[in-house]
Amino acid sequence: MSRSPAPRTSTAHAIEITGVDRVFTTRRNDVVALSGIDLTVEAGEFVSLIGPSGCGKSTLLRLVADLDTPTAGTVEVFGKTARQARLDQDYGIAFQQAGLLPWRTVAANIELPLKLHGVASDERRRRCAELLELVGLEDFPKAYPEQLSGGMQQRVAIARALAESPRLLLMDEPFGALDEITRERMQNELVRICRETGAAVLFVTHSIPEAVFLSDRVVVMSPRPGRVVDVVRAGGDQMGTSHDRTDDVRDVPDFFHTVARVREHLHGSPQPRGGETR
Ligand SMILES: Nc1ncnc2c1ncn2[C@@H]1O[C@H](COP(=O)(O)OP(=O)(O)O)[C@@H](O)[C@H]1O
Ligand SMILES: [Mg+2]
Repeated sequence: MSRSPAPRTSTAHAIEITGVDRVFTTRRNDVVALSGIDLTVEAGEFVSLIGPSGCGKSTLLRLVADLDTPTAGTVEVFGKTARQARLDQDYGIAFQQAGLLPWRTVAANIELPLKLHGVASDERRRRCAELLELVGLEDFPKAYPEQLSGGMQQRVAIARALAESPRLLLMDEPFGALDEITRERMQNELVRICRETGAAVLFVTHSIPEAVFLSDRVVVMSPRPGRVVDVVRAGGDQMGTSHDRTDDVRDVPDFFHTVARVREHLHGSPQPRGGETR
């Protein structure tokens, strides 16, 4: 008997941001980092934030992660307050710098969040082995971060973010420091990891092709004040969903069209950038 898939344990959105402003008050002036942000990320969906430096991408991610609080509006994560979601460890975080502890081995870095939350050592070891395989580092549990390439370090950071099987990943330019070839390889890995874990992702990047390749939707932002100027859907027959992306997708017409659309929206922002013709 065929039937529709079982309902998820929670029907709540992964993220629901409503009417969010963030104003930083400094001694000299007020900086409106974010203004009137409304954004929903569905469970299992991949959403990228793109926009020029200073448009509030990191600020928005920090609000979701409860590392900062909005001046106005609300942020919910799986139907809870951002604070409660943080306490419940509902998400993993990965930033541009891998942020590994240099005096700990790869395995010890990955196990750290589990250790901090009182997971027994047998279970930690089992989970670590699983994660090492997921990120393709099964031969390196005993290595130290400095013995690994940048891409490998970033994979350790992703494994650590996934340690507690979060339903949501928050990633701020996680591949920003990598060379182009490693970067594309990491993008392919991330597609596979999301397919296997079903995690939703809110992903910050400066790269238009990276945003389009990885995402179901690309949120284009403009600065001063930071606003959402447009949301571009990346999908269709040729591209599929964010879980279907393979290297071939980088060459299909829909990919190029979507890249062009995001670029237009970026250039149409109220901060024209001189000299650009495309
Ligand atoms: N703690 C802070 N105090 C004052 N201004 C800040 C602070 N954090 C960010 N800003 C300002 O808010 C704006 C958005 O910053 P940010 O979110 O880091 O942008 P992005 O990540 O898009 O480059 C910038 O103008 C930045 O200078
Ligand atoms: Mg930033």
